[in-house]
Amino acid sequence: MIKADGKYFFLNTKNTTYAFKVMETGQLEHLYYGSLIDAEDGENLSEKRAFAPGNTVLYDNAHPEMTLEDVRLETSAVGKGDFREPMIEAICTDGSTSLDFIYDSYETFSGKKEFNTMPGSYGSKRDVETLNVKMVDANNGFTLILSYYVYADCDVISRSAKFINTSSEKVKLTRMLSMLMDFDHAGMKITSFHGKWTSEMNKSDTILSAGKFVNSSFTGTSSNRSNPFFMVSDTDATEISGSVYGYNLIYSGNHYGAVEVSPWEKTRVAYGINPRNFSWILEPSEEFEAPEAVMTYSAAGYRQMSLNMHEFVREHITRGNWKKKERPILINSWEAAYFDFTESSLVKLAKAAKKVGIELFVMDDGWFGERNDDKRGLGDWDIVNKKKLPSGLEGMAKKINDLGLMFGLWVEPEMINVDSELYKKHPEWAIDIPGKNHAEGRNQRILDLCNPEVVDYLIDVMSSVFSTPGLSYVKWDMNRNFSDYYSKYLPAEKQQEVSHRYVLGLYRLLKTLTERFPELLIEGCASGGNRFDLGVLCYYPQIWASDNTDAVSRLDIQNGYSYGYPQSTYTAHVSSCPNHQTLRITPMESRFAVASFGVLGYELNLNDAKSEDVASVEAQIELYKQYRKTLQFGDFYRLKSGIICEWSIVSRDKSQAVTMVMQREVQPNNPYLRIEQAGLDENAKYHFYGRKLEYNLKGFGDLVNTVAPIHIKQDGILHNVVAKFVKMPGETEDIKASGATLNNAGVKLAQSFIGTGYDDRVRYFPDFGARLYFTEKIDITE
Ligand code: DGJ
Repeated sequence: MIKADGKYFFLNTKNTTYAFKVMETGQLEHLYYGSLIDAEDGENLSEKRAFAPGNTVLYDNAHPEMTLEDVRLETSAVGKGDFREPMIEAICTDGSTSLDFIYDSYETFSGKKEFNTMPGSYGSKRDVETLNVKMVDANNGFTLILSYYVYADCDVISRSAKFINTSSEKVKLTRMLSMLMDFDHAGMKITSFHGKWTSEMNKSDTILSAGKFVNSSFTGTSSNRSNPFFMVSDTDATEISGSVYGYNLIYSGNHYGAVEVSPWEKTRVAYGINPRNFSWILEPSEEFEAPEAVMTYSAAGYRQMSLNMHEFVREHITRGNWKKKERPILINSWEAAYFDFTESSLVKLAKAAKKVGIELFVMDDGWFGERNDDKRGLGDWDIVNKKKLPSGLEGMAKKINDLGLMFGLWVEPEMINVDSELYKKHPEWAIDIPGKNHAEGRNQRILDLCNPEVVDYLIDVMSSVFSTPGLSYVKWDMNRNFSDYYSKYLPAEKQQEVSHRYVLGLYRLLKTLTERFPELLIEGCASGGNRFDLGVLCYYPQIWASDNTDAVSRLDIQNGYSYGYPQSTYTAHVSSCPNHQTLRITPMESRFAVASFGVLGYELNLNDAKSEDVASVEAQIELYKQYRKTLQFGDFYRLKSGIICEWSIVSRDKSQAVTMVMQREVQPNNPYLRIEQAGLDENAKYHFYGRKLEYNLKGFGDLVNTVAPIHIKQDGILHNVVAKFVKMPGETEDIKASGATLNNAGVKLAQSFIGTGYDDRVRYFPDFGARLYFTEKIDITE
């Protein structure tokens, strides 16, 4: 609910209030963001000022108390005494840079209007309310619209801003962020997520008592270096207690989130497009839209903050046919074959996949042009590699469909190899600086999406690929970072517009194609998670989270994503071992357990896999299908991290839950493990049980001799033969308990193996061991 009277503005969600007011001098003073408060109490929320501190700049002589440097503000520019991170910077025609935005008027309405140039969140008139506050620059007459979107149900308030050149001169914006807000204290903890290829979303905490912390990207994408999602919290916040604020940006290019502490120990958060190498020229009456920044607040720790963000992303970011539809279990050809495949080898893989219950077959890189390695072919989407695929794309799709599988394929539309037919025709379409050496990345260059002709071409060529009869899925990859930012299409004075114009070109491309092909399931990818953000999630509902398929690495990667993104947005595959990225060997069941907490897929050569692994895969898929809806769309709980990692997903109606526990390293003589449950209906009764599995005898090494009637040489022929027929029984977990007991007391599991004996009361739990448990609501009378 928005309560506004032209002086005080109160934005209420179900559990939170965001408040600001117009000061006598016309700037907007931020008053409060936290748990719900009373809108009548606005006057009590302002800081009380009589005289400004020494060595500060007064806003004007009529206000001896007022230095903007020490006011909590809703927006700020350069030149009026606020030396902290500004939201806006501009160079005017006379060379001056001083702007002074003063409140003018406001409007509110139910619902939310679409942006003209980029995607944003969306909702019905019941879901979201809009507040637009108009500010006018006293120096030059520019207009600034600050927009606030209130999503009451998921406790999210998002913000955007629009700069309109209402002056009669042209102006060059050199910074145009989306939001700015100030807390009244310092020493807050910033949690941000950093990484690199195959190692995305590593959680990092920084306590900021002075100075500045910046979470930003300059790769041209939202980047695996620093994901755009970050949190600011109390230093002692936990999963279930303390104040936590979550921030994200609906944007897929260079982002910039700055957190700065002022001399008076107030913490500022400023967020938007990265101002580095950015400028934008606006002629009179032209306008610039800043992307939408998302904020949520939880008074009950990280868990609730994540649940708010998940709900917001699921309901108000992802859209289209696949928004709520259960995602198919796929097999991807990449780690199974890389570039080395033929139609018949792929069909063979697809047959094996069909047998175990897989639903979608994805042909990854290598099907077009001369693409037999990663040095050539990108751009030649209209040339199917007939040596590999003699029946062409359509024939291939038919062969897969005839097996009863959906067919999907890989594209990387934004890229071009110099060694390609497209480059021969259109060298001017690549981003590089004429006459200068170009830095290389994966032997490829980026197409200039600032040029509308290139975007139109890609719409046409991709439309023809996407029209392949029988195609149900596309993996949209993007594998290089920007280096020499330059568009041959733009004049010299607009070269700092390249990174943002590229993103806008990409959005036009994605919007047109997703509108034209609403049935297609499109999965994003950028060398794994190099473009995992809310901007692209407006177009495709899921993203390949990482090129790393190792189950242990995935614990951290998926745990990281879970803070800001629901599990329906990140995909996870079971692959072969030793793992291709780490050479680590983990149990097949552990690989499945971790992958089923994202959107599950497989990426291995099933025809080469051991028969017992193939049998496991078949059982896994059958099980996953039973719990798929809960696993993909239920509420996600992080319950333990560290040596033992535990996650649980509870269906929205609380009727069932799936819990995953994985151990990174055995703790000797540590028999007891209590696992936690959360989110269950406290008044209901549940059946909690585990999968009844059997384990390979060889996992016990030469301990087999403690029970074998004859001596067995470890790894000898006899050992292998016995292991084929004798399986070690797994433990049983089976209890009935109330939701209250499970939520609060958890479950004491069967004791773990500690070297003193083994039978079916003992949990075989070696390094990287994992389990899945199921909790089902039962009739209270049972
Ligand atoms: C990078 C992706 O992340 C991989 O999954 C695979 O599709 C390769 N590109 C193909 O070149």
